[in-house]
Amino acid sequence: MKFFVDTAEIDAIAELNDLGMVDGVTTNPSLIKKSGRDIIEVTKAICDLVDGPVSAEVTATDADTMIKEGRKLVEIAENIAVKVPLTWDGLKACKVLSDDGHMVNVTLCFSANQALLAAKAGATFISPFIGRLDDINLDGMELIEDIRTIYDNYGFETQILAASIRTVNHILDSARIGADVITAPPAVIKSMVHHPLTDKGLDAFLADIKAADIKIL
Ligand code: E4P
Repeated sequence: MKFFVDTAEIDAIAELNDLGMVDGVTTNPSLIKKSGRDIIEVTKAICDLVDGPVSAEVTATDADTMIKEGRKLVEIAENIAVKVPLTWDGLKACKVLSDDGHMVNVTLCFSANQALLAAKAGATFISPFIGRLDDINLDGMELIEDIRTIYDNYGFETQILAASIRTVNHILDSARIGADVITAPPAVIKSMVHHPLTDKGLDAFLADIKAADIKIL
């Protein structure tokens, strides 16, 4: 499973990247706003740091302007994936940009039928939003399962990029189902390390190290 980091904060990306945990990055207009930086400048900085796909989202809602924006975004670096919304115009832009040979991430996916359309339009990635479905008492993981089944039934190569991840269990369940990629905020990825028995065990070992004055250096 690939790990993408869902942020435009360079320091947070760099910390995880140094550990080999970053296979790519996803951004969106809200994350760019949060960074306080210019979209082109911050996206270039991310691409300079990370080898894998870096998703940068268009701002237009009509296909022609999305295509123009996408063509500008891909000039930033070779690893840009143009992110387009799951609308009819977004699918048109997806088809043109993917036919041009560019990676396209179709975002704001909330149904398996939408995911089917994105795959038909040549999407490199489909981004089903788990957390936002859970927020309205629907089952985000059920959507990941449905898309996995449909894509496997017909051999679609579009990668399932489980997005809007809020908890470590979202990551675990996505891995169990076989999502190709998860994208999560750095804090959620880092919190995967925690287990109370690890802390308890380490406390006991540290007590014995002190009691027996065990030294290596
Ligand atoms: C994915 O590409 C999106 O940027 C992101 O996962 C949205 O997450 P949110 O629902 O927590 O805003």
